Amino acid sequence: MFEQVTQAAADPILGLTEAFKKDERSNKINLGVGIYKNEAGQTPVLATVKKAEARLLDEETSKSYLTIQGSAEYGAAVQKLLFGQDSDVVTQQRACTAQAPGGTGALRTAADFAVKHLPSNKIWVSNPTWANHGNVFKTAGLEVVTYDYYNAETKDMDFDAMLTSLAHAQAGDLVLFHGCCHNPTGIDPTLEQWEVLAKLCAEKGLLPLFDFAYQGFAKGVEEDAQGLRIFAQHNTELLVANSFSKNFGLYNERVGAVTLVAKDTATAEQAFSQIKSGIRSNYSNPPAHGAAIVTIILNDAALYAEWDKEVADMRDRIQEMRELFVATLKDKGVAGDYSFIIRQNGMFSFSGLSPEQVAQLKDEHGVYIVGSGRISVAGMTKSNMDALCTAIAAVV
Ligand code: LMR
Repeated sequence: MFEQVTQAAADPILGLTEAFKKDERSNKINLGVGIYKNEAGQTPVLATVKKAEARLLDEETSKSYLTIQGSAEYGAAVQKLLFGQDSDVVTQQRACTAQAPGGTGALRTAADFAVKHLPSNKIWVSNPTWANHGNVFKTAGLEVVTYDYYNAETKDMDFDAMLTSLAHAQAGDLVLFHGCCHNPTGIDPTLEQWEVLAKLCAEKGLLPLFDFAYQGFAKGVEEDAQGLRIFAQHNTELLVANSFSKNFGLYNERVGAVTLVAKDTATAEQAFSQIKSGIRSNYSNPPAHGAAIVTIILNDAALYAEWDKEVADMRDRIQEMRELFVATLKDKGVAGDYSFIIRQNGMFSFSGLSPEQVAQLKDEHGVYIVGSGRISVAGMTKSNMDALCTAIAAVV
C-alpha cells in the first residue's frame, strides 16, 4: 500500500542541505540552513562544550531515564537565562520548564498543549516567518493566520501594519513572537515597540508564544532577552520555546525547552501537568546529553563567562561578514543600497532576491540560499565572499 503514498515536497531549508550535499561542484556555497561557520568554513564544537563534556565523561554515573520534563536543574538554569535570576517569574516560581528535543520539539509541545487545552486554536505568526512554523503548528492542529511585519520596500519593520493586523486578534488567540533575530528578516522590535506589543497582548487577553532560538546573536545574551522580559512584566501568562542549537552550537544534540508561565505556582503546575502528559504521549522523556552540557556551563561562573565570550565571537564574526558582504556587493558593481543588511540581527539576511534569482544562483553558480531570498550570513567567510558576490552580481 505504500505505493499509494505521494511524494512529499522537499523541506524549504533542510531539503536544500540535501541537494547541496549531492551537488558535485567544488565551488558550491551553502547559505541555506542557519548554521554558524567559522572563518575556515567549519562548525566547531565550542570550547566550553568540550569542557562540560569532559566533566560529564568523568562524573556521569548513569544513563537511566530522566523524568518526563527532564532535569529540574536544567529547567531552573533555563528560566534564569530567559527571565533573569531576580525576575518575578523566577523568584515567585511562576514558571515550569520541560526539556525538549530542540526548539522545534518545544514549539510542537506548546502547540499540542494549545490545541488540546486552550480556548482558541488560532495562532498569529509574522509575515514572513521561519519556513517551518506553519508546518509545525498546522500539523498540531492550530489554525495559522499572519500579521504584517515587514515592508519589502523600506526593508524594515512595518510596526503600524503589525498593530493593525493584531487588532483583529481575539482574546485567547496565540501570538508568536521571535525573541530576537527575527527569522528570516533579521529585524526586531525596539524596546519601546516590545512594550507596546506586551501591553496589547495583556489588554486583549492574547497568549504570547515566544520562539527564542538566537539568544546572544543580536546584541548579547542578556540584552536579547529584554523583549521577553518586558512581556513577562505585563503578561502573567506566557509560553516560551527556546533552543540551544545556535548559541551553544549543539545543533545535533537537539536541546531546547518549553516554559509555561502562569499567575502563580499552583496554576503553573496544574497547566504544566498537561504539557507533561503531551510529552509522555509523544517522545516519553527527553534526551539527556545536550541539556546536561548546557546545565554545567550555565551553572559554573567561569564556564558561563567563557561561553558568553564564545557567543560574542560568533556574533562579531557574523557582523563582520555583513559589512564585508555589503562592501563586496558594491565593489562588484551591484546597483542599490544594501546597507540595510548591516542593520539586521542574527544569522540571516533577507536579501530581497526573487525566487528566479535564487534558482539561478543555485543552478548556475552553486550558491544555495532559501527560496524566500533568505541568506545565512553565518555561512559567509572571507574566502567565499568574492565568489558569492560575483554570482549575485551576475543574477541581479
Ligand atoms: C534555520 O532556520 O535555518 C534553522 O532554524 C534550521 C532549521 O531547522 O530550519
